[in-house]
Amino acid sequence: MNNFTFYNPTKILFGEGRIRDIAGEIPEGSGVMMTYGGGSIRRNGVYDEVMTALQGCAVEEFGGIEPNPTYETLMRCVELVRKSKIDFLLAVGGGSVIDGTKFIAAAVPYDGEPWEIVAHYGKPVKSSIPFGTVLTLPATGSEMNNGAVITNRALNAKLPFMHPSLFPRFSVLDPAKTYTLPPGQIGNGVVDTFVHVMEQYLTYPVDGKVQDRFAEGLLLTLIEEGPKALAEPENYNVRANLMWCATLGLNGLISVGVPQDWATHMIGHEITALRGLDHGRTLAVVLPVMMKARSEEKKAKLLQYAERVWGVREGDDASRIDAAIEKTRDFFESMQVPTRLCDYGIGADIVGEVVEQLKAHGMIKLGEKRDVTPQQVETMLKECL
Ligand code: NZQ
Ligand code: ZN
Repeated sequence: MNNFTFYNPTKILFGEGRIRDIAGEIPEGSGVMMTYGGGSIRRNGVYDEVMTALQGCAVEEFGGIEPNPTYETLMRCVELVRKSKIDFLLAVGGGSVIDGTKFIAAAVPYDGEPWEIVAHYGKPVKSSIPFGTVLTLPATGSEMNNGAVITNRALNAKLPFMHPSLFPRFSVLDPAKTYTLPPGQIGNGVVDTFVHVMEQYLTYPVDGKVQDRFAEGLLLTLIEEGPKALAEPENYNVRANLMWCATLGLNGLISVGVPQDWATHMIGHEITALRGLDHGRTLAVVLPVMMKARSEEKKAKLLQYAERVWGVREGDDASRIDAAIEKTRDFFESMQVPTRLCDYGIGADIVGEVVEQLKAHGMIKLGEKRDVTPQQVETMLKECL
């Protein structure tokens, strides 16, 4: 296992009714900018609960942060915050609202052109405004990590960035607030969490036994609970388990001391930037072919995954690996997330476009060993059609 430093300052307020507790987390009398998305929080009562909890603060609001949040929209909020007396940001929504709020938090005090923050992977950031979150969609882990993914419409680019100052001060995780998610978003969230775990687990062994068992535990929980969330949308414990899985899947815990991949995500981001396909859906398409194409490099971990996660023990190495890949694909499909590009009306022209975008963004050496080339991505994507 490699050396590591583990740091995560986000306080989690988990459980039904916890929104009321944000009052104790934001200094009284603060000027708060509450950010949200397209209006789901107005329809399911979350907006009212948050407003009640914030009674001791001067609250302004900025709605309309879209899925795959754009620089163009977020800059309107940056201007507003710069003009107002705002001490604290509160993101209320899914990963897009939280990611967008991270960008706003870093962009407001930034001296130069704020897109530089994203273009240079967060390196230019010196400080950011403190913020908290109320999570309504378990998927991204953004509620307990310091990363964000922002789209620039003018440049047709969707890029990630990170900074140590961008951990939320606190995050409220109330599983009951996820009952109103449409089935498509439940599926997206389960697939996204599953693939986060795989990006940190399915690499090569370094004897990180705790990280491996932890990752396998998250995968097994998703496989057990994911379909139940579709069948019994108001089952609290099912939602609670999925929510905690999503947070633990990308809060830094399972990646410490072990190699990480992220090639599936980088390809997925390009597909979203080019065709607008939901993040989780891009991953469901790319991961199975990625596993197959890299089965030689990932052999040891694939065999471990086949046995411990899917109980596959019969047959030679190649057939056990193929069985595990097929079970993974079937699981995504069982979450009502199709796994072929044609299922989404996307044709062969996407292949060359993704490859060009990856090159333009300098993503020419992907994967845990930095050996996945654009040429290999081209071959893989042809298998996704
Ligand atoms: O905008 P509203 O009206 O709120 O509706 C949203 C949106 O349309 C809706 N929704 C959210 N909570 C709901 C709800 N509808 C009903 N009831 C609720 N309780 O769901 C739709 C999708 O929301 P979005 O926030 O876009 O989804 P998600 O949480 O999957 O976030 C996706 C974004 O996160 C990025 C993705 O690339 C994408 O841009 N990621 C961020 C990561 C991170 N920060 O660490 C890592 C991930 O890998 C990912 O890349
Ligand atoms: Zn993801």
